Amino acid sequence: MRRYFTLLLMAVMIAVIAMAQTGKADYRIVPLPDRIDGIKSADFRLTDKCLINYTMGDRAMERNAAMLSRYIEDMTGMHLSTRPTLRGDAGNITLRLDDNIDNDEGYGITVTPKCVEVRGKTAAGVFQGIQALRKSLPIGEFDAVILPSAQISSSPRFGYRGMHLDCVRHFFGVETVKRYIDIMALHGMNRLHWHLTDDQGWRIEIKKYPRLTEVGGWRNGTTLGHNSPVNDGIRYGGYYTQEEIRDIVLYAADRYITIIPEIDMPGHMLGALAAYPELGCTGGPYEVWGMWGVSDDILCVGKDHTLQFIKDVLDEVMQLFPSQYIHIGGDESPRVRWQQCPLCQQRISDLGITADGKQSAEARLQGWFTTQVQNYLAQHGRRIIGWDELLGCDVDPSATIMSWRGAKPGAEGAKLGHDVIMSPVGPLYFDYYQTSKTWNEPMSFGGCNTLKKVYDFEPVAEDLPAGTRHHIIGVQANVWTEYITCEPQIQYQVLPRMAALSEVQWLQPEEKDYQDFKARLLHLVDLYKLYGWTYRAKSLIQEEEDHAQE
Ligand code: ACM
Ligand code: ZN
Repeated sequence: MRRYFTLLLMAVMIAVIAMAQTGKADYRIVPLPDRIDGIKSADFRLTDKCLINYTMGDRAMERNAAMLSRYIEDMTGMHLSTRPTLRGDAGNITLRLDDNIDNDEGYGITVTPKCVEVRGKTAAGVFQGIQALRKSLPIGEFDAVILPSAQISSSPRFGYRGMHLDCVRHFFGVETVKRYIDIMALHGMNRLHWHLTDDQGWRIEIKKYPRLTEVGGWRNGTTLGHNSPVNDGIRYGGYYTQEEIRDIVLYAADRYITIIPEIDMPGHMLGALAAYPELGCTGGPYEVWGMWGVSDDILCVGKDHTLQFIKDVLDEVMQLFPSQYIHIGGDESPRVRWQQCPLCQQRISDLGITADGKQSAEARLQGWFTTQVQNYLAQHGRRIIGWDELLGCDVDPSATIMSWRGAKPGAEGAKLGHDVIMSPVGPLYFDYYQTSKTWNEPMSFGGCNTLKKVYDFEPVAEDLPAGTRHHIIGVQANVWTEYITCEPQIQYQVLPRMAALSEVQWLQPEEKDYQDFKARLLHLVDLYKLYGWTYRAKSLIQEEEDHAQE
C-alpha cells in the first residue's frame, strides 16, 4: 500500500513538473491588435515537433519563417524547423499570403486545434503577424505552449511608422544600429530615419569625396556638460563604410524596415566644410564642431560647384539606399553668410529673386536650392523629406514635411497639400527627459516627454479639414544624441516610450486606453529583459505621478 502511495506521489510530482513546463500565450500585446475573437474550440499545442511552413520558392517567406523560428526559440527555448511546402498541414504553423487583407502591412492570425496560420497581404504583413505571435508567447523554457483558439487581425493606422537616430553627435557602430532595427521591428515600425551628416561629423563614406570622412568624420574634442565652453580635447569620430551601409540596409530590409538617410543641407554642414572649405561662403578654414547648436557657416549656394557636390553625394547615397525618400534636412539654416556673400547675392540677382512680405530673398534662395535638389532626386525617381522650415521657403507640395517645431507646422503643411510626418519636439523627441524629476536621470537635452504624453499624442488635429487629413501619413520619434553617448543610453531613452508610440502608430484613437496599455506593457518589458535591453523601469510605476507634478 505504502509503495503504491509513493508511486502515486511520484506520478503527481512528475505531472506537476510537466505542467510547469507548459506555458500559455496571451494575444493582448503591444500594439494591441484591432480584433482578437475567441473561437470555441480546443487550444493549439505548440511544441518543437511543429514545423513552420512557408511557400516553396518564396525567399521572403523563407526568411520570415527562419525569423519566426528564431523568435520562438528566444521566447520558449523550443527549436522549430522550417519547411517549404505547397499546403498547410495539420499540427503546424503556416505562413501565407492572403489577398483578402486590405492593408499591405495588415495581418491575420488564426489559431485552431490543428493549425496556426499567419497571414498577410504581403510578406511585410506576414512579418507583422510574426511579431504579434512572437510577443504573445510566454518567456521561459517550455516543452509546450498552449495557444488559445482565436482569430486575430490588425492593420496599422499609419503607413509611415518611424524612428530616427542621430549617429553624428555620437557615433554608434554597426551592431548598435542593427539592434536598434531589432527594437523597431519588435514595435511594428517600418522606417528608420538615419541622420548621417552634421556640424559635428560626416558619417557616410562617399568615394568621390574621401576627405568627407577622413577629415569631416573627426572632431578634436567634445563639449563637456550641458554644451559648456569646456572641451574634453579627445579626438572623436567614425563613419560607416559603404559596405557597412549596404549590410545595414539589407538587415533592415529583411525586417521590412526602410532606411531613409538624411543628408542635412544647406545648414548643419560643418563636417563637409571642414573637409572641403571651398563649399562655404567664406572659404574657411572650418573645423568639425565640438559644440552643439546651430552654426552660421552653411553651404554656399552661389557656387555651381556646391550644387555639383550635392548631386555627386546624392548619386552615391541613392546607390546605397533604395528608399524612395531621401531626407535633405533643411532645418536651422541661418542666412547671415548668404547676406554677406557676393556669390550668393549674385545668384539671388541672376534668378531675379526678391523678398516679399513673408520671406526674405535669402529664404527664397533656400527654396530655390531645395527645388534644385528635389528636381535632381525626382529625375532618379526619388522624393524628398525635409524639416518643417521648408514651409517657409516655397517648396513644391510634392516635398514631404517633417513637423518638428510642434504639430502646427505639419497641419499648415497638410493644408498646403504636403504629405506630413509628425515628429514634434513635444512629445516625440525621445532625447528629452521622460520625467520632470530629472535628478536621477542621465543628462538630457531638456524638456519632459513622459510615457503618457507620448501615448496621448494625436497626430491628426481635430480641426484639420477633412480634405487634408489624409496628408498626415506618419508619425516618428527622434533621438538626437548630443547627450547620448552609448547604446544603453539610447535604449534607456527609447524604452518604453517606443511602446507608447507604437500604439499611436497602429491604433485608431478610440482604441487607445492608457491603463490597459500599461498592463499589457509588462510582458513587452519582459522581452526587453530577455534581450538585455536597457529601459526606464520607473516609467512603469511612477509615470502618472511625474505627469501630475508638471
Ligand atoms: C531639428 O531638431 N533640428 C530638426
Ligand atoms: Zn555664398
